[in-house]
Amino acid sequence: MKKKILITGASGFIGSYLVEEALKQGFDVYAGIRRTSNREFLQDKRIHFVELNLSSPLQLEQQLAANKQFYGNFDYVVHNAGLTQAKKKEDFFTVNCGYTKNMLTALQASGMELQKFVLISSLAAYGPGDTETFEPIELEQKQEPISIYGKSKLCAEAFVRSSNHFPYIVINPTAVYGPRDKDFLEFVKLINKGIEPYIGIHKQMVSLIYVKDLARTVIGITGSPIIDRSYIVSDGLAYPKEQLGTAVKSILDKRTLKIKIPAIPIRIIITAIEKVQQLFLGSLPFLNIDKVREISSPNWLCNSTQLWIDLSTTANYYLEDGMKETIEWYKENNWL
Ligand SMILES: NC(=O)c1ccc[n+]([C@@H]2O[C@H](COP(=O)([O-])OP(=O)(O)OC[C@H]3O[C@@H](n4cnc5c(N)ncnc54)[C@H](OP(=O)(O)O)[C@@H]3O)[C@@H](O)[C@H]2O)c1
Repeated sequence: MKKKILITGASGFIGSYLVEEALKQGFDVYAGIRRTSNREFLQDKRIHFVELNLSSPLQLEQQLAANKQFYGNFDYVVHNAGLTQAKKKEDFFTVNCGYTKNMLTALQASGMELQKFVLISSLAAYGPGDTETFEPIELEQKQEPISIYGKSKLCAEAFVRSSNHFPYIVINPTAVYGPRDKDFLEFVKLINKGIEPYIGIHKQMVSLIYVKDLARTVIGITGSPIIDRSYIVSDGLAYPKEQLGTAVKSILDKRTLKIKIPAIPIRIIITAIEKVQQLFLGSLPFLNIDKVREISSPNWLCNSTQLWIDLSTTANYYLEDGMKETIEWYKENNWL
């Protein structure tokens, strides 16, 4: 019999690929969504939809118990729902940490007997690496996130590790790109207009993972006998930040005006905008000081060797191939 897997945040960028990959790897797939979630990328007829209210522990328990009665026990849960951008700083903790607690507590209370609970955390939960040595971020090192987002993900990780009820896996992906992603899209759009902007004038190294490779590794680890450990996920390469622009320019066949804006004036301006917006609108701007601090950190290299060893595979996509497929998709779908 097929193993049952519930994937929360299934309607999002990464979630939709987790669903596709889980179907591909032969799971019976349950997409955890909200009533309001967009199902555009969840069209496969084999998908079962499970409405979950992650904000209410009691309702969540009832929903999970009802699903258990109707479909049977879930074998695996990949808890991928989360906020990468928020209107208010508190929302990061409420959703990323609080809803993880709610999910685990409700799973336990509903009598679900999971073989594994997989948390999609983030490399941001580690914080950036050393800016002098440019040594990669290592799995075993102390986690020192610099953003509220990173701190909220670390809070979720701590709860998962300490809950002791289900075997677990924590996944820490670096920046994820691919079709359906709207964050890298903004950079690609600017390059398409001939502008190549970078925050910070100093050396910056980044790691990346193509969404299909991330999904393949997450579902692979979920179905494997591996339990109770964490994995950093990247394609294994180290990219100078300009390589991103070079790849996009070459794929789009564009010449650009490269603009490197020093981080300090940007931080001053963004701090002022953030204060004004919070005062008058009570919300955070998309580019807030936390985000700027994070994206302008010089060293986002990471060591994902253990993941690829344990899965006996390598990434199928590196920047140029992944970005080519992404841009083709953006064009085919009129996003670009
Ligand atoms: N993108 C990256 O580069 C990256 C890197 C590392 C880790 N991650 C992590 O990967 C996960 C998915 O990120 P993504 O980039 O795919 O983001 P996304 O496209 O914004 O998707 C987020 C998903 O979470 C759901 N969600 C958000 N708030 C929710 C709430 N209050 N209640 C229930 N569901 C909620 C969304 O549901 P709706 O569709 O209903 O809004 C959506 O399905 C997140 O946990 C994120 O922290 C992302």
